[in-house]
Amino acid sequence: MSIFNYSIDDALGKVISVDTTTVIVEVANSDLLKRLQVNRLAVLQSSKPGQHLIGLISQVTRKKTTELLEGEGEGVNELNLCKVALIGTFLDRDGADENIFRRTLESVPEIDANCFALEGEKLTSFMRILSRAGDEESSLTLGQYTLDEQATAYLNGNKFFQRHAFIGGSTGSGKSWTTAKIIEQMANLSTSNAIVFDLHGEYEPLNQDGIKHFKVAGPADIEAGKTLNDGAIYLPYWLLSYEALVSMFVERSDQNAPNQSMIMSREVNSAKRKYLTDGGHNDVLDNFTVDSPVPFDIQELINELNEINTEQVPGARAGTTKAGEFNGKLSRMIARLENKLSDRRLGFLFQGGTDTLRFDWLQDLTTALLGSTDENGVGGIKIINFSEVPSDILPLIVSLVARIAFSLQQWTPSDLRHPVALMCDEAHLYMPQRNSSGAADDISLDIFERIAKEGRKYGVSLVVISQRPSEVNKTLLSQCSNFVSMRLTNSDDQSVVKKLLPDSLGGFSEILPTLDTGEALVVGDACLLPSRIRVDEPVNKPNSGTIDFWDEWQEAAPADRLATAINNWRKQNI
Ligand SMILES: Nc1ncnc2c1ncn2[C@@H]1O[C@H](COP(=O)(O)OP(=O)(O)O)[C@@H](O)[C@H]1O
Ligand SMILES: [Mg+2]
Repeated sequence: MSIFNYSIDDALGKVISVDTTTVIVEVANSDLLKRLQVNRLAVLQSSKPGQHLIGLISQVTRKKTTELLEGEGEGVNELNLCKVALIGTFLDRDGADENIFRRTLESVPEIDANCFALEGEKLTSFMRILSRAGDEESSLTLGQYTLDEQATAYLNGNKFFQRHAFIGGSTGSGKSWTTAKIIEQMANLSTSNAIVFDLHGEYEPLNQDGIKHFKVAGPADIEAGKTLNDGAIYLPYWLLSYEALVSMFVERSDQNAPNQSMIMSREVNSAKRKYLTDGGHNDVLDNFTVDSPVPFDIQELINELNEINTEQVPGARAGTTKAGEFNGKLSRMIARLENKLSDRRLGFLFQGGTDTLRFDWLQDLTTALLGSTDENGVGGIKIINFSEVPSDILPLIVSLVARIAFSLQQWTPSDLRHPVALMCDEAHLYMPQRNSSGAADDISLDIFERIAKEGRKYGVSLVVISQRPSEVNKTLLSQCSNFVSMRLTNSDDQSVVKKLLPDSLGGFSEILPTLDTGEALVVGDACLLPSRIRVDEPVNKPNSGTIDFWDEWQEAAPADRLATAINNWRKQNI
């Protein structure tokens, strides 16, 4: 028997207009209006027997209608309207299956069709049916529906990752916990594959089989001689694209910038050629470009640049010399290069030593980052801590890791590919709006936009996480098909998220500022119903990173903290 065994007497009102997926219902009895709340569910009679349409109440209006009734000379009356966004069809049966909910609209309601509130027992039964729609064992879930806390809200894990997802919410709304909840379930899959960009070391407490931790090597890690086996990641300069090298070493405003860029390209190319020649890698020699991941010796590059910068060529008269074409024009680039080379905070780029110049070294790095199983057969979520990467080059470095992942997927024959997700926390820091900022941002955006647009083909998924949706690049956001919106208090951020939601759900987004901590509005491909979900606590909780100023100000501060800091600052070592 149908769970929607309504009798006509239960009807709230009748449909008076239909516009594609939006239906207006006139509520005859204004007392019933009190039972109607925005974002609650409604059931509408369908023109097809055995089917009902399910909708979300998006607006409730009451107004006096003296004007409308003028002709009848009736005086004051009330018009009670309720706007419903249709979201799916409920079928009593489909072949052998009973009680099926589909996201498609297989019919539209007719004018005068009855509309009912979905509440009480009927709501419970309906939510249970939604929950059963997921295969519980292996399904992705964030938690329970706010509408019915007994019903688990399952998401379609394929669809969640297929078309990119966005997790947004103000600081402290629960994004990191939600991300941890997702990671924890991914880690339970035997060959899951993901890289988590952890900018503050927040995800360090996530420890379980299937999760590995790495950290982009900081000064202390380098001092201690940590290697990949200890979880220290080096990203040597030779992995940087030509554009990234230029953005690091060439000052855009310098009048010699074009010359410097040109020489950089030429000399890096020839340094890579030399490496390949010396190593006998003739097969690569024929086809490599300046962007190919081929090691080269940066000290040799500097020597070469110095030579060009001080070059003397024969003068017009025999026996005389004059300054070469680029004499003195590379000085600033060389100075920048030398500065960066000795900057301990950039040790992960320049101080990896001879080990990172091995031809096979890239194989080791990518095995750590993208290998989906290790010798224990454990799957792989790789959490990379970027907390010691200086913020001015953060976009370059995060996007470098993304580029490695994407390039690798691209160069893998399709039958050998294994999908990978990139979980991008604090995404506004390296996927900002285009315009204002520097070249580092542009390079990062080029890479992430490319992944957003083409990732699906190559099995690369983005999960973009940010507390400032209005500062995240719009092109990237518009490529996301799943939205997990948590509490958002800033009105710019709210309006960005509202624009991303389907028009018919306009009213649904009104609740964004009122969501509780750990509560999310989930809309998109992956969920059966646009839903408000109370997210479960993850087993291992991320570090909140909050400093309790007031409490700490009541504790004694360590005596030698300033002397230690100054000493470390000078020595560039913690
Ligand atoms: N699902 C949840 N259930 C209960 N409490 C939560 C939940 N998510 C977050 N919280 C609380 O909110 C705090 C901030 O959450 P967090 O995920 O770090 O926020 P964000 O990453 O959005 O800044 C947590 O320390 C925790 O106390
Ligand atoms: Mg967070």
